Amino acid sequence: MSKLLQLIQSRQSDRKYSNKAVEQEKLELILESARLAPSACNSQPWKFVVVTDAALKLEVAKATHSSIIGLNKFAPQAPVIIVIVLEKPKMVTQIGGAIKNKEYPLIDIGIAAEHICLMAEEQGLGSCMLGWYDEKKIQKLLKIPPNKRIGLVITLGYPDGKKRKKIRKNENEVISWNKY
Ligand SMILES: Cc1cc2nc3c(=O)[nH]c(=O)nc-3n(C[C@H](O)[C@H](O)[C@H](O)COP(=O)(O)O)c2cc1C
Repeated sequence: MSKLLQLIQSRQSDRKYSNKAVEQEKLELILESARLAPSACNSQPWKFVVVTDAALKLEVAKATHSSIIGLNKFAPQAPVIIVIVLEKPKMVTQIGGAIKNKEYPLIDIGIAAEHICLMAEEQGLGSCMLGWYDEKKIQKLLKIPPNKRIGLVITLGYPDGKKRKKIRKNENEVISWNKY
């Protein structure tokens, strides 16, 4: 089977981590895979803030937790958190986005995020993308200027759980050939 497809199949949102530290070399590989991601007009509208300081990371993790809807309680277990900050894209991307009514930077960071998660998987690490967090709190904690949006948060660490079966729509629901 294709090695890439194997990686794609085994990557999952890991919500349980062991307390084993993540090696710096692995983090660097993960960040390089993010840096090399494609983006509209090659704008690279991102900054990856890597949170490894234990006390700070705990505070950032807590800012992803919602007790009301019971989301992201697991985040403090992850030894590393990457916060993706949206940077202004090139002028040509801004104009193109306005004309075409498209948020290209959101697409771009989604691709970079998947690069991160796939590289993490290849390195034996687990990851989970988090779209729910207290943006203002994380901005303050990480000294992110308040006018810059946080696009996504990713937890990283050695997973401490089993692989789950993928739950996905059937091919015929999501793929069509030559017409909608
Ligand atoms: C943009 C985005 C935001 C997400 N936000 C959260 C989140 O806040 N908390 C969480 O536990 N999982 C979150 N997820 C993970 C999804 O729930 C998960 O990818 C989906 O259920 C498919 O499962 P899998 O990743 O294990 O294959 C998010 C995923 C994406 C792509």
